[in-house]
Amino acid sequence: MDTPEISFSLPFILLVSILHSLIPSCQVLACNPNDLTILKGLAACLESDIGGWNVSNSDCCSWTGVTCANSTTSSSLRVVRLELGSKRLYGTVCESLSALDQLRTLNLSNNFLQGSLPTRLFQFQNLEILDLSHNDFTGFLPVSIRLPSITSFDISDNHFSGAVNFSLCDISTTIQVLDVSNNNFAGEASTFFRSCTSLLHVYINGNSLSGAFPVNLLRLPNLQRLHLQDNHFSGQLDDRIGNLSNLVELDVSNNNFTGYLPDVFGSLGKLEYFKAISNKFTGDLPNSLVNSPSLAKVVFSRNLLSGPINFNCSAMVRLSTLDLGSNNFSGPVPDSLSSCKTLTAFNLARNNIGGEIPNSFRNLQALKYLSLSNTSISNISSALQILQNCKNLNMLILTKNFDQEEMPNNVDLQFKSLKALIIPNCRLRGSLPIWLRASTMLRLVDLSANSLSGSVPPWVGDFRYLFYLDLSNNSFTGGIPETLTRLQSLIYNNITVERFFSEFPLVKTRQNASGLQYNAVDSLPPTLDLSYNRLTGPISPSFGDLKQLHVLSLCHNQLSGAIPGGLSGMKSLETLDLSYNKLSGQIPHSLVQLSFLSKFSVAFNQLYGEIPTGGQFLTFLDSCFEGNSGLCGTNFKPCNVERTPPPPQPGSSGDDRMEVFGLNFAIGIAAGFLASVTYCVSRPFKCSKGHGRTRSR
Ligand SMILES: *[C@@H]1O[C@H](CO)[C@@H](O)[C@H](O)[C@H]1NC(C)=O
Ligand SMILES: *[C@@H]1O[C@H](CO)[C@@H](O)[C@H](O)[C@H]1NC(C)=O
Ligand SMILES: *[C@@H]1O[C@H](CO)[C@@H](O)[C@H](O)[C@H]1NC(C)=O
Ligand SMILES: *[C@@H]1O[C@H](CO)[C@@H](O)[C@H](O)[C@H]1NC(C)=O
Ligand SMILES: *[C@@H]1O[C@H](CO)[C@@H](O)[C@H](O)[C@H]1NC(C)=O
Ligand SMILES: *[C@@H]1O[C@H](CO)[C@@H](O)[C@H](O)[C@H]1NC(C)=O
Ligand SMILES: *[C@@H]1O[C@H](CO)[C@@H](O)[C@H](O)[C@H]1NC(C)=O
Ligand SMILES: *[C@@H]1O[C@H](CO)[C@@H](O)[C@H](O)[C@H]1NC(C)=O
Ligand SMILES: *[C@@H]1O[C@H](CO)[C@@H](O)[C@H](O)[C@H]1NC(C)=O
Ligand SMILES: *[C@@H]1O[C@H](CO)[C@@H](O)[C@H](O)[C@H]1NC(C)=O
Ligand SMILES: *[C@@H]1O[C@H](CO)[C@@H](O)[C@H](O)[C@H]1NC(C)=O
Ligand SMILES: *[C@@H]1O[C@H](CO)[C@@H](O)[C@H](O)[C@H]1NC(C)=O
Repeated sequence: MDTPEISFSLPFILLVSILHSLIPSCQVLACNPNDLTILKGLAACLESDIGGWNVSNSDCCSWTGVTCANSTTSSSLRVVRLELGSKRLYGTVCESLSALDQLRTLNLSNNFLQGSLPTRLFQFQNLEILDLSHNDFTGFLPVSIRLPSITSFDISDNHFSGAVNFSLCDISTTIQVLDVSNNNFAGEASTFFRSCTSLLHVYINGNSLSGAFPVNLLRLPNLQRLHLQDNHFSGQLDDRIGNLSNLVELDVSNNNFTGYLPDVFGSLGKLEYFKAISNKFTGDLPNSLVNSPSLAKVVFSRNLLSGPINFNCSAMVRLSTLDLGSNNFSGPVPDSLSSCKTLTAFNLARNNIGGEIPNSFRNLQALKYLSLSNTSISNISSALQILQNCKNLNMLILTKNFDQEEMPNNVDLQFKSLKALIIPNCRLRGSLPIWLRASTMLRLVDLSANSLSGSVPPWVGDFRYLFYLDLSNNSFTGGIPETLTRLQSLIYNNITVERFFSEFPLVKTRQNASGLQYNAVDSLPPTLDLSYNRLTGPISPSFGDLKQLHVLSLCHNQLSGAIPGGLSGMKSLETLDLSYNKLSGQIPHSLVQLSFLSKFSVAFNQLYGEIPTGGQFLTFLDSCFEGNSGLCGTNFKPCNVERTPPPPQPGSSGDDRMEVFGLNFAIGIAAGFLASVTYCVSRPFKCSKGHGRTRSR
């Protein structure tokens, strides 16, 4: 009686299971088999796996970075977006990829892809967005690029070479963004950009392009951003640039442009940002520029511009950054600037200014950054009295002015927001000013190369954020205050140096040494520099607590006593210069634990005994030890074989030495070798002023 039931249900189950297997392919379209093959080919072509791709799973539309869409011509789903940016991909891109003919977005940016690109890759009919930036692609681009649908073409930060003469716009009439920056393109760009009228953003910076300003660019009425910086363009800036009435950003920095700036800024009603650093522009600032209501950032440093500084703040209502450094502008410091209510950064360094800071500068309430280095201004008392009213002032740079004046010391000076105070090379007299104590936000203090005297007061150790203190080349006397070894930010790894004004370099130049240029405050190594003073007394062992300190320079003083073995606690130290003092005793063996130490000198002291061997000491040359008649060592003055080795210093236990041979040591020794050779060979008697970093903070 059961039989009919069974005979009925077998076919039924079969039917159900057949139906079941058909349903998915009816309801959900599958990845197109050709596209699947191509993507599998791409994966096979690369030398690395593509994270999130399971090539055994035939539903390629579900793979990471793959987007599919319905197609009018096919019943299957077609791949329309391939987005594999930042996937750590290695290898080359194979030609078969170009058969993904429905592709609208191809993004392979920020990988390690290399080799030249197949010509057919530049022939996608439907491609709208191509982003191949930040890879290692090489070779020429095909002369004929057929991307009729492209809107954004980005091949920046690669090694493409050849001429920028790919006739992109002849075919691509919708292109808006063209970024070929930071490649090796060379030659004249003057004939390129013909018929690119749809372009909004053009980045051709960072190549070796030459010749005159590309004249075809002047025919692009919609252009908003134009970046030509870091090339070899020359000649004058064409007056017809005034035709680009939609321009918002213009950067022509680091080229060889000459002549006057065109007086066309009245027609550039949307221009906010004009950078022209390091060219050879001459003459006065054009009238239309100093009256532009749209300009917010004006950056002209390192040119030959001259004349008075006559910005009309009533007209320039948006001006926030004004960098006129290293030109030939003549003084006085423009009183009128004080009515620029939005001015936050002003650099006038290295111009022929003179006179005093006008009293009206107290009104610059938005001002955060001010540099007036080497402008022959005088009266530091009056300057500080006025500037203390700029309540937002973060960074004050007055290097090389106020020759031999007295540093004001009145308690009522208040710089509450100050993060960096930089007044070196002024031969200022007086003492370390007491008012500094109230500037509790300070990260950086550089008062080097003055004639300040008296003792270094203990309150210098109270600054919570201070990580860079340079009091070198003054006449300070007395002992090194113990409080310096309690500077919080040199002990704990919690220094937060926000990127403030990273676009303004801090230029620090010393006589007798190559000029040092720091790119930004946050690229400075944590430093204590008290060299070239008249300090006496011992070096405290508690310096060993400063685990975050990178540079300690105490050379050219009259310090005495032994070198404390505890200095080996300064685990991050790269430079230790104790030369030209009156230090005695032995060099503690524990110093071999300083695995990042690359610049070291104890020359010209009264040290004796065996020079430690091992660690970075293997890389230090004889000149780092000379002038100590009692020192000996393997490569230096051989030690008397009968002499017993010095007793081990506290802290140089077996365990500590094991640590030395870790990874840090390997990195340190590699970096240290080169640095110490150049340092000790080329400038054997000088204090280290190098600031080469071996790793980032
Ligand atoms: C890859 O896909 C196949 C087929 O769908 C599946 O059997 C396999 O488990 C998948 N592998 C991984 C690692 O997901
Ligand atoms: C794709 O096509 C199917 C069937 O033709 C339709 O049901 C679906 O809505 C379409 N999907 C999209 C995103 O167009
Ligand atoms: C490409 O992908 C990266 C992520 O890796 C993204 O940052 C970038 O904006 C994408 N490019 C375009 C043009 O969308
Ligand atoms: C640029 O390419 C076009 C088209 O191939 C060619 O006619 C022209 O001579 C080239 N120009 C230069 C300067 O190489
Ligand atoms: C500018 O021109 C000079 C002399 O012709 C040349 O030495 C220099 O390299 C050029 N600089 C740039 C940035 O092209
Ligand atoms: C471009 O500027 C020049 C000179 O300023 C002017 O003669 C010309 O008519 C302008 N061309 C266009 C298209 O605006
Ligand atoms: C400064 O700008 C104001 C407002 O645009 C204008 O009225 C004045 O004439 C300008 N002064 C000079 C000297 O150009
Ligand atoms: C700088 O300007 C002065 C006049 O203020 C002039 O005598 C001098 O030649 C100029 N220097 C340069 C390098 O242009
Ligand atoms: C200071 O400026 C003068 C002229 O402006 C220049 O000759 C000199 O080299 C500058 N000094 C430094 C240290 O920049
Ligand atoms: C500096 O300026 C102050 C205030 O303006 C003035 O009293 C003083 O005489 C000036 N000092 C010098 C040396 O010019
Ligand atoms: C010390 O500063 C003076 C200027 O104040 C300078 O002439 C001298 O070269 C500097 N010495 C060192 C060693 O930096
Ligand atoms: C850094 O850490 C120490 C110890 O935890 C703390 O006392 C100090 O206030 C911290 N400094 C900052 C700037 O956060």
